[in-house]
Amino acid sequence: MTNTPPVCNYEGSDYQTSFWDKGGREYEDRTEAIALKRLLPQRGRLLLELGAGAGRNTPRYVGFNRIVLLDYSRTQLEQAQQRLGASDKYVFVAADVYRLPFVDGLFDAATMIRVLHHMADAPKALGQVKNVLGANGVFILEFANKLNLKAILRYWLGKQQWNPFTREPVEFVKLNFDFHPKAIRQWLTGLGFSIEKTLTLSHFRMGLLKRIIPTGILVFFDSILQWTGAFIQVTPSVFVKANLVGRDAIPPYGQDGIPLYGQDGILSYFKCPDCGRHPLSDKSEYLECGNCKKRWGVKDGIYDFRESL
Ligand SMILES: C[S@@+](CC[C@H](N)C(=O)[O-])C[C@H]1O[C@@H](n2cnc3c(N)ncnc32)[C@H](O)[C@@H]1O
Repeated sequence: MTNTPPVCNYEGSDYQTSFWDKGGREYEDRTEAIALKRLLPQRGRLLLELGAGAGRNTPRYVGFNRIVLLDYSRTQLEQAQQRLGASDKYVFVAADVYRLPFVDGLFDAATMIRVLHHMADAPKALGQVKNVLGANGVFILEFANKLNLKAILRYWLGKQQWNPFTREPVEFVKLNFDFHPKAIRQWLTGLGFSIEKTLTLSHFRMGLLKRIIPTGILVFFDSILQWTGAFIQVTPSVFVKANLVGRDAIPPYGQDGIPLYGQDGILSYFKCPDCGRHPLSDKSEYLECGNCKKRWGVKDGIYDFRESL
């Protein structure tokens, strides 16, 4: 197994219920829905949702024929299965963002929302996303912004030690990172992405405002202010739409020029995350790598690439 950074483990977590359903975050959820509508391509074949959690955003990827939900936590994926119901449209994959088990160039689009903030090595994670996107692939990334107004004020008032203006990430709680917008741009462009749009979200993320002003009004004004993200980013959450233009992505075609996915089914999506061998052999209860002989479990509709059997 390769050496990868630590994972923030959501196994068994009630995140969807405690943070979203009962956590008073309707405002944040609705502003994300608006941002996604503005940034997502109208149509596409195959979308990868990285760190999909319980599938809160998945129904929003309406124009895509198929969506691959990837998360390290199997219990999050089980919740997503319950939420989304049985459908060929969804493929569930338990895997580490740092060791993606997909062939290069597979996806038309990828999203990563509220996940990068758990990445101790963000450039490495972004590099993995680049590998699995096809030419002109679209990447929609949400990141937690260290250069937010609250952090700036606290820093100026001497109530916070870390400097929001410097480019290095800040780990404010173990495995929870805020990033500087310039660092994100530098990493993405360095990988060959071109940044098409930037939206700022959660302009009114303050307990008092959320209590006294109706959510619909906050969402309305946030939706207008989102466009200011093109010029300035000082909100806690930022969405970026980036296009992979800087390389010839390797399309997942077979030697005969026929696309591998769709022809051979879902199995053709995968490579061995340990040695990179593709394709894997389908042994019904597991997928086997013909090279390193690792076996990757398939159980109750979830392909599991975290640890080999
Ligand atoms: C804050 S939740 C966000 C879930 C979902 N994107 C949403 O916005 O509702 C972060 C998710 O990222 C997943 N995650 C964290 N580190 C990961 C990693 N290295 N590989 C795959 N998933 C990871 C967690 O299991 C969790 O479900």
